[in-house]
Amino acid sequence: MVSSTSTSAMIPLFLYFILMTLIANTYAKTCTTQTLTDASNNNILYANCMDLPKLNAFLHWTHNASNSTLSVAFVVTPPFPGGWVSWAINPTRTGMVGAQSLVAYKGDSGVVTVFPLNIQSYTMTSRNLTIDTWNLRGEEDGGVIRIFVNIKVPENAVTLNQVWQVGPSVSAGRIDTHALAPENLSSKGPLNLDGSQSVVDGVDSRTKRKNIHGILNVVSWGFLFPLGVVIARYMRIFPCADPTWFYLHVGCQMSAYVIGVAGWITGLKLGSESKDIVYSVHRNIGIAIFCFCTIQMFALFLRPNKDHKYRVFWNVYHHSFVYTIIILGIINIFKGFDILNPVEKWKSSYIGVISVLAIIAVFLEVITWIVVLKRKSNTKEQQ
Ligand code: HEM
Ligand SMILES: *[C@@H]1O[C@H](CO)[C@@H](O)[C@H](O)[C@H]1NC(C)=O
Ligand SMILES: *[C@@H]1O[C@H](CO)[C@@H](O)[C@H](O)[C@H]1NC(C)=O
Ligand SMILES: *[C@@H]1O[C@H](CO)[C@@H](O)[C@H](O)[C@H]1NC(C)=O
Ligand SMILES: *[C@@H]1O[C@H](CO)[C@@H](O)[C@H](O)[C@H]1NC(C)=O
Repeated sequence: MVSSTSTSAMIPLFLYFILMTLIANTYAKTCTTQTLTDASNNNILYANCMDLPKLNAFLHWTHNASNSTLSVAFVVTPPFPGGWVSWAINPTRTGMVGAQSLVAYKGDSGVVTVFPLNIQSYTMTSRNLTIDTWNLRGEEDGGVIRIFVNIKVPENAVTLNQVWQVGPSVSAGRIDTHALAPENLSSKGPLNLDGSQSVVDGVDSRTKRKNIHGILNVVSWGFLFPLGVVIARYMRIFPCADPTWFYLHVGCQMSAYVIGVAGWITGLKLGSESKDIVYSVHRNIGIAIFCFCTIQMFALFLRPNKDHKYRVFWNVYHHSFVYTIIILGIINIFKGFDILNPVEKWKSSYIGVISVLAIIAVFLEVITWIVVLKRKSNTKEQQ
C-alpha cells in the first residue's frame, strides 16, 4: 500500500512540473505578452503581432484595407545602448537594397531620434522614401526601442517584403554598418497583412496558448474530475477495491485540481491580454469553478468523522459541490469550444469521451443497485 500511496502523490507533482515548464516556455519571448496600443488609431491594440524570426525582434500591426493604411510598431533591443535599430518595407525586392527603412537610436541626450532612410544600394542612401509614411515616432524603455509609423500600402496588397536590422553605433548622425553575421543577413521575410503568418509551426503563438488553455481545462474539469467522481462512487462498493479506490480517487482529484488551476491561470492571462474582447460568461463560470474547487480542497480537512452526527450534512454539501463543479466544468468547456472554434473533430472527440464516461457511470449505477439489493436480501435470509 505504501507504494500505491506514494505513486498517487507523485502523479500530481510530476504533472505539475511538466505543466509549469510548458507554460513558462509558451509565455517567454512572444509578442503577445507585449500589449501595445496604436496611438494613431484611438489607442486600440494592434490587430496582429509576430515574433520576427531573427534578432529577437517583434512586429505589431493593423492593416486597414479600406484606406490602404498599415499601422506598425517595431520592437527590438539594440546590441549596445547607443546602437541603432531599423525596420523597413522593400517595395521592389527582398533584402536590404531598395528597403524603405525607418531607423531609430537613443542619442547621448537620452532622446530617441527616428528618421527615414531609403537604401538605394549598399553604399548609397537618402532621406527621401519612395513610400508615404506619417506619424513616425520612436521611444525607448528599459533598453528596448520601439518605432511607430503609418504607411500607405498598395491597394489590395496582401504580402509585403519586410527587412529589419540592428547596428552597433551611430557616428555624427550616420548609422555605422551592422554586423554581417548569419542572423544579421537573414533578418528579412514576408509580412502577410492579414496576420496569417504570425504562424510558427502552423499555429500562431496566441492560438497555441489558447489551445494549451483549452487542453488543460478539458483534461482537468472535463475528464479527470468526473473520472475521479465515478471511481469514488462506484468502486468503493466492491470490498476488494478498498482502499485502492481511495488512492485513485485522491490521485484523480488532485491532478484535476493542479491541472485545472494551471488552466485557470492561463485563462486569466489570455483574458488580461485582450482587454477589448471579454467573454464574461466563460470567465465568470471559470472563476466560480476555481472558487468551488478550492473550498472543496479545504473542506476535506474539516470533514467530520465517519460516524459523527454532522457527517451527513458534510456529505450533502460535498456531493452538491462536486456535481455543481462537474456541470459548470462541462458547460464552460462547451463555451470555450464556441470561443476557440477548433476543428469540429475536437468537439466531437470530447463529446465521445464524456458520453462513454456517462454510459459507464449509468452502467455502474445499475450494477451498484443490484449489488446493494443482493446484499440486503442476503442479510434478510441470514436473519
Ligand atoms: C550604414 C548603413 C548600412 C550599410 C553600410 C549596410 C551594409 C550592408 C552590406 C554590405 C550587406 C551585404 C552583406 C552581404 O551580402 O554579404 C548588408 C546586408 C543587409 N543589410 Fe545592411 N547596411 C546598412 C544599413 C542597413 C539597414 C538600415 C538595414 C535595415 C533595414 C539593413 C538590413 C540588411 C539586411 C537585412 C541585410 C541582409 C540581406 C541583404 O543582403 O539584402 N542594413 N548590409
Ligand atoms: C486609415 O484609418 C486608420 C484608422 O483605422 C487611421 O489610423 C489612418 O490614419 C487612416 N489613414 C488615412 C490615410 O487616413
Ligand atoms: C479604416 O479606415 C476607414 C477610413 O478612415 C474608417 O472608416 C474605418 O473605421 C477604418 N477601419 C478600422 C477597422 O479601423
Ligand atoms: C527629397 O525630396 C524633396 C522634395 O520632394 C526634394 O526637394 C529633395 O531634393 C529630395 N532630396 C533628395 C536627396 O533626393
Ligand atoms: C547583429 O548585428 C549586431 C550589430 O552589428 C551585433 O551586435 C549582433 O551580434 C549581430 N547578431 C548576431 C546574431 O551575430
